[in-house]
Amino acid sequence: MTAAISEDRRSQTAATAEFKIRDALESDLPIIVDIYNATVLTRMVTAELEATTVEARLPWFREHSPDEHPFWVAENDGRVIGWLDFKKFLPRCAYRSTAEISVYVDDRFRRQGVARRLLEEAIARAPSLGITALVGLIFAHNEPSLKLFERLGFERWGLLPRVARLDNLKRDLTIVGRQV
Ligand SMILES: CC(C)(COP(=O)(O)OP(=O)(O)OC[C@H]1O[C@@H](n2cnc3c(N)ncnc32)[C@H](O)[C@@H]1OP(=O)(O)O)[C@@H](O)C(=O)NCCC(=O)NCCS
Repeated sequence: MTAAISEDRRSQTAATAEFKIRDALESDLPIIVDIYNATVLTRMVTAELEATTVEARLPWFREHSPDEHPFWVAENDGRVIGWLDFKKFLPRCAYRSTAEISVYVDDRFRRQGVARRLLEEAIARAPSLGITALVGLIFAHNEPSLKLFERLGFERWGLLPRVARLDNLKRDLTIVGRQV
């Protein structure tokens, strides 16, 4: 996949964002990191406890490839408003056809169908990437995200109790998944 792969022009009564999905470029990394960092202090989304940097995230970004583990952005009027990435679920070969996905949306563009559309695209494209199962690792208290994945047909496959420590609170991690 190269240029714009899909467009979303929903005309519903609820607010919807108009955007296209395309492969992320290295030049998108600052905004990708900004969107990510905006969630760190909420203690709801990521196990990172401090804001990260573009430099620190470059090796992670470069692990992606469009035909195996893509990294996509949602772009609205030339501006990146969300992103989704695929990564290896676990390094051993037997897990090759399972990928972990993460999705983040700029908080000014939430509840407008951006994550839903990104996840739909991930589900639709997975078979052509050799992926037969998708998983998400989500804090059990991240209700918006759990609802989102549930809405897209993911089931709760596992619960790792009290594996994260966030400001002296022990938190559970939920594994959601679906076959594609
Ligand atoms: C979770 C997140 C990705 C949702 O993005 P979004 O673009 O706002 O989601 P959408 O508008 O596509 O919502 C699709 C569905 O998800 C559910 N949902 C999304 N946000 C929700 C919220 N705050 N509360 C309850 N349900 C929510 C709803 O079912 C929604 O459908 P509806 O709007 O028709 O009710 C966004 O809140 C976010 O970036 N959070 C921080 C990052 C994160 O938690 N990522 C997931 C872990 S990888």
